[in-house]
Amino acid sequence: MDRLKGKIALISGGTTGMGAATATRFKAEGATVIVTGSNPETLEAARRELAGIEVIASDAADTKAIEALVAGVKQRHGRLDVLFANAGVAKGAPTDQVDEAFFDHQFDINARGTFFLVREAVTIMPDGGSVILTSSIAHAQGLPGLSVYAASKAAVRSFGRAFATELAPRNIRVNVISPGPIETPIWNKFGAPAEQLAKMRENLTGKVPMKRVGRPDEVAAAALFFASDESSFTTGADLPVDGGMLDLA
Ligand SMILES: NC(=O)c1ccc[n+]([C@@H]2O[C@H](COP(=O)([O-])OP(=O)(O)OC[C@H]3O[C@@H](n4cnc5c(N)ncnc54)[C@H](OP(=O)(O)O)[C@@H]3O)[C@@H](O)[C@H]2O)c1
Repeated sequence: MDRLKGKIALISGGTTGMGAATATRFKAEGATVIVTGSNPETLEAARRELAGIEVIASDAADTKAIEALVAGVKQRHGRLDVLFANAGVAKGAPTDQVDEAFFDHQFDINARGTFFLVREAVTIMPDGGSVILTSSIAHAQGLPGLSVYAASKAAVRSFGRAFATELAPRNIRVNVISPGPIETPIWNKFGAPAEQLAKMRENLTGKVPMKRVGRPDEVAAAALFFASDESSFTTGADLPVDGGMLDLA
């Protein structure tokens, strides 16, 4: 219950889905937790539902907002022990229908936003801290309609390796979580009609060896492992939380 006692943890994209589940879990383990989001409605809902957790509006794609976010954490809490860089968007479109705005939107939030959040956050992280990045098993797959999303997540996985080596001398561990299909609000933001979404979901579930989609709390458990001392000799890793989909399917 006290695996994160006294730790200060920042979770970007922590207002819904696996970020919110992780915030709740981290808090239950004794951490002081700060979450971010950008949508006013879900921010408001998170303020109601995530009792005792600091909820901050901060656009993951905006470098100035990231700098202000980290400066605010430093001012209010003095330091940051755990960063879960989890904010992300997933949109699907066949490559011949992708325009620059579609491409930039996903890269700006998923890849660029993750990079600059880590750059800033480690400036206030004492030696011995933990950085966790959310990628996706899509980073290692050739999924039709997901070329941009998958590449943005491949960038995240790649950042994880470089950050891990750069931060190892400070004993800051950097690990990546690669979820498979997890039941979260992201599905409804995908941009596909409900019928197509239902088909996609059925198709994906069929490809998971465990024959179900995952739950946000199952990702939270992986994040807790990386955030806590339980993973004291693990860095640069990429953990699929996917019911076996990446390696076994
Ligand atoms: N669910 C899956 O099947 C799955 C699989 C693989 C990887 N992932 C990854 O898991 C992560 C979490 O997603 P989720 O499934 O839990 O979906 P989710 O419920 O939609 O959560 C996404 C979070 O990111 C935030 N976010 C999105 N754009 C943002 C922006 N510009 N600035 C700040 N926050 C922003 C959202 O808040 P706002 O809406 O308020 O901005 C929300 O808190 C994402 O990186 C996603 O790519 C999900």
